[in-house]
Amino acid sequence: MNNIECIINEATEKIKNADIVVLENLKVEYLGRNGILTQILKSLSQYSIEDKKRIGLEANKAKSIIENEIDKKKESLKKALLDEKVQKEKLDYSSSFYFPFSKGSFHPVIQTIQDISSVFKSLGFSVAEGPEIETDWYNFEALNIPESHPARDTQDTFYLDNVKNLLRTHTSSGQIRVMEKQKPPIKVIVPGRVYRNEASDASHSSTFHQIEGLVVDENVTFVDLKAVLSNFIHKFFGFELGVRFRPSHFQFTEPSAEVDMQCPFCKGNGCRVCKNSGWIETLGCGMVHPNVLKAVSYDPGKYTAYAFGIGVERITMFKHGIDDIRLFYENDLRFLKQF
Ligand code: DAH
Repeated sequence: MNNIECIINEATEKIKNADIVVLENLKVEYLGRNGILTQILKSLSQYSIEDKKRIGLEANKAKSIIENEIDKKKESLKKALLDEKVQKEKLDYSSSFYFPFSKGSFHPVIQTIQDISSVFKSLGFSVAEGPEIETDWYNFEALNIPESHPARDTQDTFYLDNVKNLLRTHTSSGQIRVMEKQKPPIKVIVPGRVYRNEASDASHSSTFHQIEGLVVDENVTFVDLKAVLSNFIHKFFGFELGVRFRPSHFQFTEPSAEVDMQCPFCKGNGCRVCKNSGWIETLGCGMVHPNVLKAVSYDPGKYTAYAFGIGVERITMFKHGIDDIRLFYENDLRFLKQF
Protein backbone atom coordinates (compact mmCIF):
# COMPACT_ATOMS: atom_id res chain seq x y z
CA MET A 1 0.00 0.00 0.00
CA ASN A 2 2.63 2.38 1.17
CA ASN A 3 4.53 1.53 -1.91
CA ILE A 4 1.68 2.48 -4.28
CA GLU A 5 1.15 5.79 -2.52
CA CYS A 6 4.86 6.51 -2.86
CA ILE A 7 4.65 5.69 -6.55
CA ILE A 8 1.78 8.16 -7.00
CA ASN A 9 3.62 10.93 -5.14
CA GLU A 10 6.84 10.35 -6.98
CA ALA A 11 5.10 10.27 -10.38
CA THR A 12 3.05 13.41 -9.64
CA GLU A 13 6.21 15.26 -8.66
CA LYS A 14 8.00 14.20 -11.84
CA ILE A 15 4.99 15.06 -14.03
CA LYS A 16 4.85 18.56 -12.53
CA ASN A 17 8.30 19.42 -13.86
CA ALA A 18 8.19 17.47 -17.10
CA ASP A 19 8.33 18.77 -20.63
CA ILE A 20 6.57 16.99 -23.45
CA VAL A 21 9.40 14.49 -24.05
CA VAL A 22 9.87 13.66 -20.39
CA LEU A 23 6.10 13.26 -20.13
CA GLU A 24 6.07 10.57 -22.79
CA ASN A 25 8.87 8.75 -20.98
CA LEU A 26 7.00 8.91 -17.68
CA LYS A 27 3.95 7.44 -19.35
CA VAL A 28 6.02 4.46 -20.42
CA GLU A 29 7.78 4.28 -17.08
CA TYR A 30 4.58 4.10 -15.02
CA LEU A 31 1.80 2.95 -17.32
CA GLY A 32 3.61 1.14 -20.14
CA ARG A 33 3.52 -2.58 -20.80
CA ASN A 34 6.59 -3.01 -18.62
CA GLY A 35 5.80 -0.04 -16.43
CA ILE A 36 5.94 0.00 -12.64
CA LEU A 37 2.18 -0.27 -12.14
CA THR A 38 1.75 -2.93 -14.81
CA GLN A 39 4.45 -4.92 -13.07
CA ILE A 40 2.57 -4.73 -9.80
CA LEU A 41 -0.66 -5.86 -11.44
CA LYS A 42 1.16 -8.72 -13.15
CA SER A 43 2.61 -9.89 -9.85
CA LEU A 44 -0.75 -10.14 -8.10
CA SER A 45 -0.87 -13.91 -8.44
CA GLN A 46 1.56 -14.30 -5.60
CA TYR A 47 -0.81 -12.64 -3.13
CA SER A 48 -3.75 -13.92 -1.16
CA ILE A 49 -7.20 -13.34 -2.63
CA GLU A 50 -7.85 -10.48 -0.23
CA ASP A 51 -4.50 -8.79 -0.92
CA LYS A 52 -4.98 -9.38 -4.61
CA LYS A 53 -8.27 -7.49 -4.53
CA ARG A 54 -6.94 -4.62 -2.43
CA ILE A 55 -3.65 -4.19 -4.20
CA GLY A 56 -5.30 -4.60 -7.60
CA LEU A 57 -7.82 -1.91 -6.78
CA GLU A 58 -5.17 0.47 -5.45
CA ALA A 59 -2.88 -0.16 -8.40
CA ASN A 60 -5.65 0.52 -10.91
CA LYS A 61 -6.64 3.67 -9.03
CA ALA A 62 -3.00 4.80 -9.10
CA LYS A 63 -2.89 4.07 -12.80
CA SER A 64 -5.85 6.31 -13.52
CA ILE A 65 -4.58 9.06 -11.20
CA ILE A 66 -1.19 9.12 -12.96
CA GLU A 67 -2.83 8.89 -16.38
CA ASN A 68 -5.01 11.83 -15.49
CA GLU A 69 -2.05 13.86 -14.23
CA ILE A 70 -0.16 13.17 -17.44
CA ASP A 71 -3.14 14.25 -19.57
CA LYS A 72 -3.61 17.41 -17.58
CA LYS A 73 0.06 18.29 -17.86
CA LYS A 74 -0.01 17.57 -21.59
CA GLU A 75 -2.94 19.96 -22.06
CA SER A 76 -1.24 22.70 -20.10
CA LEU A 77 1.98 22.26 -22.06
CA LYS A 78 0.05 22.46 -25.34
CA LYS A 79 -1.72 25.61 -24.22
CA ALA A 80 1.54 27.24 -23.16
CA LEU A 81 3.04 26.38 -26.52
CA LEU A 82 0.07 27.89 -28.34
CA ASP A 83 0.14 31.02 -26.19
CA GLU A 84 3.79 31.44 -26.97
CA LYS A 85 3.12 31.04 -30.68
CA VAL A 86 0.25 33.55 -30.63
CA GLN A 87 2.39 35.97 -28.72
CA LYS A 88 5.19 35.55 -31.24
CA GLU A 89 2.90 35.97 -34.22
CA LYS A 90 0.91 38.84 -32.79
CA LEU A 91 1.11 41.60 -35.37
CA ASP A 92 2.05 45.09 -34.48
CA TYR A 93 0.11 47.04 -37.08
CA SER A 94 2.18 50.13 -36.54
CA SER A 95 5.42 48.30 -37.21
CA SER A 96 6.93 48.78 -40.64
CA PHE A 97 8.54 45.37 -40.21
CA TYR A 98 5.20 43.64 -40.78
CA PHE A 99 3.79 46.21 -43.18
CA PRO A 100 6.42 47.49 -45.52
CA PHE A 101 3.76 49.49 -47.42
CA SER A 102 3.71 53.25 -47.10
CA LYS A 103 0.58 54.99 -45.90
CA GLY A 104 -1.63 56.53 -48.60
CA SER A 105 -2.43 60.22 -48.67
CA PHE A 106 -4.69 62.58 -50.54
CA HIS A 107 -3.71 63.54 -54.07
CA PRO A 108 -2.16 67.04 -54.13
CA VAL A 109 -5.10 68.34 -56.19
CA ILE A 110 -7.58 67.04 -53.60
CA GLN A 111 -5.44 68.51 -50.82
CA THR A 112 -5.57 71.92 -52.51
CA ILE A 113 -9.35 71.67 -52.92
CA GLN A 114 -9.64 70.84 -49.22
CA ASP A 115 -7.31 73.67 -48.19
CA ILE A 116 -9.03 76.25 -50.40
CA SER A 117 -12.43 75.05 -49.22
CA SER A 118 -11.47 75.42 -45.59
CA VAL A 119 -10.32 79.02 -46.17
CA PHE A 120 -13.64 79.89 -47.82
CA LYS A 121 -15.62 78.01 -45.17
CA SER A 122 -13.90 80.17 -42.56
CA LEU A 123 -15.21 83.18 -44.52
CA GLY A 124 -18.80 81.90 -44.33
CA PHE A 125 -19.03 80.05 -47.67
CA SER A 126 -20.78 76.72 -48.09
CA VAL A 127 -19.72 74.04 -50.58
CA ALA A 128 -21.87 72.72 -53.46
CA GLU A 129 -21.30 70.35 -56.34
CA GLY A 130 -22.63 70.12 -59.87
CA PRO A 131 -22.62 67.46 -62.61
CA GLU A 132 -19.65 66.98 -64.95
CA ILE A 133 -21.98 66.25 -67.86
CA GLU A 134 -23.79 69.49 -68.53
CA THR A 135 -26.17 70.94 -71.06
CA ASP A 136 -25.46 73.83 -73.35
CA TRP A 137 -27.78 75.94 -71.18
CA TYR A 138 -25.84 75.61 -67.90
CA ASN A 139 -22.37 75.70 -69.41
CA PHE A 140 -22.90 78.53 -71.93
CA GLU A 141 -26.35 79.98 -72.57
CA ALA A 142 -27.30 80.95 -69.02
CA LEU A 143 -23.80 82.36 -68.53
CA ASN A 144 -24.32 84.91 -71.28
CA ILE A 145 -21.95 83.12 -73.67
CA PRO A 146 -23.36 83.67 -77.17
CA GLU A 147 -23.59 81.02 -79.84
CA SER A 148 -20.74 82.63 -81.78
CA HIS A 149 -18.32 82.56 -78.84
CA PRO A 150 -15.10 80.63 -79.60
CA ALA A 151 -15.39 78.65 -76.34
CA ARG A 152 -18.42 76.91 -77.82
CA ASP A 153 -16.39 75.59 -80.70
CA THR A 154 -15.91 71.83 -80.90
CA GLN A 155 -12.19 72.60 -80.91
CA ASP A 156 -12.55 73.69 -77.30
CA THR A 157 -15.46 71.69 -75.94
CA PHE A 158 -16.10 67.96 -75.71
CA TYR A 159 -19.65 67.50 -76.97
CA LEU A 160 -21.37 64.23 -76.20
CA ASP A 161 -24.20 62.57 -78.13
CA ASN A 162 -25.44 65.89 -79.53
CA VAL A 163 -24.55 69.55 -79.23
CA LYS A 164 -26.83 70.00 -76.22
CA ASN A 165 -24.87 67.66 -73.92
CA LEU A 166 -21.23 68.26 -73.15
CA LEU A 167 -18.49 67.84 -70.56
CA ARG A 168 -18.49 71.06 -68.57
CA THR A 169 -15.66 73.34 -69.59
CA HIS A 170 -15.73 75.25 -66.29
CA THR A 171 -17.37 75.09 -62.88
CA SER A 172 -19.23 78.32 -63.69
CA SER A 173 -22.16 76.10 -64.68
CA GLY A 174 -22.37 75.34 -60.95
CA GLN A 175 -23.32 79.00 -60.33
CA ILE A 176 -26.45 78.60 -62.40
CA ARG A 177 -27.42 75.34 -60.69
CA VAL A 178 -27.02 76.86 -57.23
CA MET A 179 -29.00 80.00 -58.11
CA GLU A 180 -31.75 77.89 -59.65
CA LYS A 181 -32.18 75.93 -56.44
CA GLN A 182 -31.63 78.62 -53.80
CA LYS A 183 -32.80 82.12 -53.13
CA PRO A 184 -30.36 84.90 -52.10
CA PRO A 185 -28.44 85.46 -49.92
CA ILE A 186 -25.99 82.96 -51.47
CA LYS A 187 -22.37 82.46 -50.53
CA VAL A 188 -21.04 79.30 -52.08
CA ILE A 189 -18.04 77.62 -53.67
CA VAL A 190 -18.34 74.84 -56.25
CA PRO A 191 -15.22 72.67 -56.66
CA GLY A 192 -15.04 70.13 -59.46
CA ARG A 193 -13.41 68.56 -62.49
CA VAL A 194 -13.65 70.27 -65.86
CA TYR A 195 -12.78 69.31 -69.44
CA ARG A 196 -11.31 71.12 -72.42
CA ASN A 197 -10.80 69.73 -75.88
CA GLU A 198 -7.15 70.68 -76.15
CA ALA A 199 -3.77 69.03 -76.45
CA SER A 200 -1.83 68.68 -73.25
CA ASP A 201 1.55 70.23 -72.58
CA ALA A 202 3.40 71.42 -69.48
CA SER A 203 0.70 73.95 -68.65
CA HIS A 204 -2.43 72.50 -70.34
CA SER A 205 -4.45 69.38 -69.73
CA SER A 206 -7.76 68.23 -71.19
CA THR A 207 -8.94 67.47 -67.66
CA PHE A 208 -8.31 69.68 -64.67
CA HIS A 209 -10.06 71.17 -61.64
CA GLN A 210 -11.59 74.48 -60.76
CA ILE A 211 -13.26 76.06 -57.79
CA GLU A 212 -16.07 78.45 -58.59
CA GLY A 213 -17.21 81.05 -56.10
CA LEU A 214 -20.49 82.95 -56.01
CA VAL A 215 -21.93 85.55 -53.66
CA VAL A 216 -25.40 86.99 -54.25
CA ASP A 217 -27.19 89.45 -52.01
CA GLU A 218 -28.55 92.96 -51.93
CA ASN A 219 -25.79 95.57 -52.08
CA VAL A 220 -22.91 93.20 -52.90
CA THR A 221 -20.12 95.32 -54.41
CA PHE A 222 -16.73 95.03 -56.06
CA VAL A 223 -15.21 96.13 -52.74
CA ASP A 224 -16.58 92.93 -51.12
CA LEU A 225 -15.10 90.91 -53.94
CA LYS A 226 -11.68 92.52 -53.51
CA ALA A 227 -11.72 92.04 -49.76
CA VAL A 228 -12.67 88.36 -49.89
CA LEU A 229 -10.26 87.38 -52.67
CA SER A 230 -7.32 89.30 -51.19
CA ASN A 231 -8.04 87.63 -47.88
CA PHE A 232 -8.15 84.22 -49.55
CA ILE A 233 -4.80 84.71 -51.29
CA HIS A 234 -3.17 85.98 -48.11
CA LYS A 235 -4.49 83.10 -46.04
CA PHE A 236 -3.52 80.53 -48.64
CA PHE A 237 -0.12 81.84 -49.75
CA GLY A 238 1.02 84.23 -47.03
CA PHE A 239 0.16 87.66 -45.74
CA GLU A 240 3.33 89.33 -46.97
CA LEU A 241 2.44 88.95 -50.68
CA GLY A 242 1.01 91.82 -52.69
CA VAL A 243 -2.28 91.31 -54.58
CA ARG A 244 -3.45 93.30 -57.60
CA PHE A 245 -6.63 93.36 -59.70
CA ARG A 246 -6.30 93.80 -63.47
CA PRO A 247 -9.20 94.58 -65.83
CA SER A 248 -10.18 91.59 -67.94
CA HIS A 249 -13.12 90.15 -69.83
CA PHE A 250 -15.49 87.27 -69.14
CA GLN A 251 -18.94 86.95 -70.69
CA PHE A 252 -20.64 86.26 -67.37
CA THR A 253 -19.14 89.13 -65.38
CA GLU A 254 -19.13 92.91 -65.85
CA PRO A 255 -16.79 94.39 -64.85
CA SER A 256 -14.34 91.50 -64.93
CA ALA A 257 -10.89 91.25 -63.43
CA GLU A 258 -7.94 88.98 -63.16
CA VAL A 259 -6.19 88.72 -59.82
CA ASP A 260 -2.42 88.53 -59.59
CA MET A 261 -0.34 87.94 -56.54
CA GLN A 262 3.33 88.52 -55.97
CA CYS A 263 5.36 85.44 -56.80
CA PRO A 264 5.72 83.38 -53.58
CA PHE A 265 9.14 82.10 -54.71
CA CYS A 266 10.97 85.36 -55.38
CA LYS A 267 8.62 87.63 -53.38
CA GLY A 268 8.17 89.79 -56.45
CA ASN A 269 11.81 90.09 -57.48
CA GLY A 270 11.43 87.99 -60.62
CA CYS A 271 12.38 84.35 -61.12
CA ARG A 272 11.83 81.33 -63.38
CA VAL A 273 8.39 80.53 -61.87
CA CYS A 274 6.91 83.98 -62.55
CA LYS A 275 8.83 84.37 -65.81
CA ASN A 276 10.68 87.30 -64.25
CA SER A 277 7.56 89.43 -63.92
CA GLY A 278 7.36 89.10 -60.13
CA TRP A 279 3.60 88.46 -60.45
CA ILE A 280 1.49 85.36 -60.89
CA GLU A 281 -2.02 85.26 -62.32
CA THR A 282 -4.14 83.36 -59.82
CA LEU A 283 -7.83 83.67 -60.69
CA GLY A 284 -10.58 85.33 -62.70
CA CYS A 285 -13.48 87.19 -61.17
CA GLY A 286 -16.03 89.95 -61.58
CA MET A 287 -19.51 91.26 -60.83
CA VAL A 288 -22.08 88.81 -62.18
CA HIS A 289 -23.57 90.08 -65.45
CA PRO A 290 -27.26 91.14 -65.17
CA ASN A 291 -28.10 88.74 -68.00
CA VAL A 292 -26.90 85.83 -65.83
CA LEU A 293 -29.11 86.93 -62.94
CA LYS A 294 -32.03 87.27 -65.36
CA ALA A 295 -31.40 83.73 -66.67
CA VAL A 296 -32.25 82.36 -63.23
CA SER A 297 -35.11 84.84 -62.71
CA TYR A 298 -33.32 86.98 -60.16
CA ASP A 299 -34.11 90.70 -60.26
CA PRO A 300 -30.83 92.48 -61.19
CA GLY A 301 -32.38 95.69 -59.83
CA LYS A 302 -32.62 94.12 -56.39
CA TYR A 303 -29.66 91.76 -56.24
CA THR A 304 -26.02 92.11 -57.16
CA ALA A 305 -23.46 89.34 -57.16
CA TYR A 306 -19.81 88.58 -57.63
CA ALA A 307 -18.18 85.41 -58.88
CA PHE A 308 -14.70 83.99 -59.22
CA GLY A 309 -12.99 80.96 -60.69
CA ILE A 310 -9.79 79.37 -59.39
CA GLY A 311 -7.69 76.84 -61.32
CA VAL A 312 -6.77 74.19 -58.75
CA GLU A 313 -3.79 72.64 -60.55
CA ARG A 314 -2.43 76.08 -61.36
CA ILE A 315 -2.59 77.17 -57.73
CA THR A 316 -1.06 73.87 -56.57
CA MET A 317 1.79 74.30 -59.03
CA PHE A 318 2.58 77.75 -57.67
CA LYS A 319 2.25 76.60 -54.10
CA HIS A 320 4.74 73.75 -54.51
CA GLY A 321 6.89 74.94 -57.40
CA ILE A 322 5.69 72.23 -59.82
CA ASP A 323 6.47 73.09 -63.44
CA ASP A 324 4.47 70.48 -65.37
CA ILE A 325 0.72 69.95 -64.96
CA ARG A 326 0.99 66.42 -66.42
CA LEU A 327 2.72 65.25 -63.24
CA PHE A 328 -0.66 65.36 -61.49
CA TYR A 329 -2.13 62.64 -63.70
CA GLU A 330 0.75 60.21 -64.14
CA ASN A 331 0.32 58.53 -60.76
CA ASP A 332 4.07 58.34 -60.31
CA LEU A 333 4.57 57.48 -56.63
CA ARG A 334 7.88 59.34 -56.53
CA PHE A 335 5.91 62.52 -57.26
CA LEU A 336 2.83 61.75 -55.14
CA LYS A 337 4.81 60.70 -52.07
CA GLN A 338 6.06 64.26 -51.67
CA PHE A 339 2.62 65.47 -50.56
N1 DAH B 1 -15.00 80.19 -65.94
C1 DAH B 1 -13.76 80.88 -66.11
C2 DAH B 1 -12.76 79.96 -66.82
O1 DAH B 1 -12.98 78.79 -66.87
C3 DAH B 1 -13.19 81.28 -64.79
C4 DAH B 1 -13.98 82.37 -64.17
C5 DAH B 1 -13.65 83.70 -64.46
C6 DAH B 1 -15.03 82.12 -63.32
C7 DAH B 1 -14.36 84.73 -63.92
C8 DAH B 1 -15.76 83.14 -62.76
C9 DAH B 1 -15.41 84.47 -63.08
O2 DAH B 1 -16.79 82.94 -61.94
O3 DAH B 1 -16.11 85.48 -62.52
O4 DAH B 1 -11.77 80.44 -67.30
